[in-house]
Amino acid sequence: MTEAGAQTLTITRPDDWHLHLRDGAALRAVVGASARQFGRAIVMPNLRPPVVTVAQAGEYRSRILAALADARAAGEIDARAAGFQPLMTLYLTDNTAPEEIRRAGTSGFVHAVKLYPAGATTNSDSGVTDIARPRAALEAMQQADLPLLLHGEVTDGEVDLFDREAVFIERVLEPLRRDFPALRIVFEHITTREAADFVRQADGPIAATITAHHLLYNRNALFAGGVRPHWYCLPVLKREQHRRALVAAATGGNPRFFLGTDSAPHARHLKEHACGCAGCYTAPHALELYASAFEAAGALDRLEAFAGFHGPDFYRLPRNGDRVTLERRRWTVPDGHPFGDGDRVVPLAAGEVLDWQLRG
Ligand code: DOR
Ligand code: ZN
Repeated sequence: MTEAGAQTLTITRPDDWHLHLRDGAALRAVVGASARQFGRAIVMPNLRPPVVTVAQAGEYRSRILAALADARAAGEIDARAAGFQPLMTLYLTDNTAPEEIRRAGTSGFVHAVKLYPAGATTNSDSGVTDIARPRAALEAMQQADLPLLLHGEVTDGEVDLFDREAVFIERVLEPLRRDFPALRIVFEHITTREAADFVRQADGPIAATITAHHLLYNRNALFAGGVRPHWYCLPVLKREQHRRALVAAATGGNPRFFLGTDSAPHARHLKEHACGCAGCYTAPHALELYASAFEAAGALDRLEAFAGFHGPDFYRLPRNGDRVTLERRRWTVPDGHPFGDGDRVVPLAAGEVLDWQLRG
C-alpha cells in the first residue's frame, strides 16, 4: 500500500549502490546494518591502503563475507541478511593498468571502478591527479563495459567548496562524456541542481546516486544552533534550492537516478574533533530516512523504483526477488552504535524521531 496515510509500505528489497563498509573491527561492527536492509551494495574501495587490484578486491570481499558469517553466528542478523552480496569496486589511480581493468571485467565480482580526484575526500590521497593520466584504463573500462563511478568534485583550492561539483561537470565530466561516449558513468552522491540537470540531459549511458541526507537536509543543518559535525560529509550539503532539485530527481521516476546511501561511518571522537572527518552514518536507518524524504514530497509510491529497480537495471543485474516492509511507527534514532575496539559511531539524526520503521 502506498496511499497517503497508509500504515505499511511493502517494496522490492532495495540495494545500496554506494556504501563504505570499512575494514577490520569497524567492518564487523557495521556490516549487519546494511545487510538487514539491503540485498546488495556497491562497496567503496577507499581503504588505507586503497583497493587497487582485483586480488585485493577479492580479499576484501572475503573479509566482508567473513564478517557477515560472524554476525550471523553471533545472532545479530538472520539467514536472509547473511546472504547480503558485496559488489566490489577498484580504486582508480594515475597508474591503473589496462590489464587490471580487463581482469576486473572478467572477475565476476568487481562491478565498477571508482575515481576519487586526489585530495577530494577521506583516503583519496592515491586518487587521480589529472584525468588525462588514467586514459588507457578508461579506454579499457569502456571496452570491458565496466562502469566508472565518480566522486564529482574538483580539488582546486581556488574553487569555493560549495561550487566544486558544478565546476567538476565543466572541467572533467563533459570532456569525459565526449571522449568516452560509450563508457557507463555513475555521478555519485550528487548534491546540486546542476548535477541533476546534467544527468537528466546528457547523451550516453549515465546515472547518479542520491543520498538520503542530501534529500532531507540543506546546509543550514550543519550550523543549526552550533557546528554539527555529524551532518558534515563530502560533497557538503548545499542550499535549499539544490535539495529541492535532488528531491525532484529522486522522485521523478527517471531511471537515471537511484539509491546510494554513501553511509560513511567514522568513530565518534574523529567526527567530534577540531578537524572532523567527512561522512554521515546512515546504514542502520537508511530506508527509513529515504521513506521520510519521499513521503514529504508526496511520492512514497516512487520509492520502490528508485530504491529497487533503477540501480540493478543500470548495473545489468537482476532485481531482488524478495520484499521489505516499512511500518508507520514513530521511533527515536539511537545516540550511538558500537564501532569496534570500544569506539562508538553516531548515526545521522541521532535522537530525532522518524515516522517509518523497517519490519523485522
Ligand atoms: O563524506 C564522505 N565520506 N565523502 C566521501 O567521499 C568519503 C566518505 C568516507 O569514506 O568517509
Ligand atoms: Zn562515498
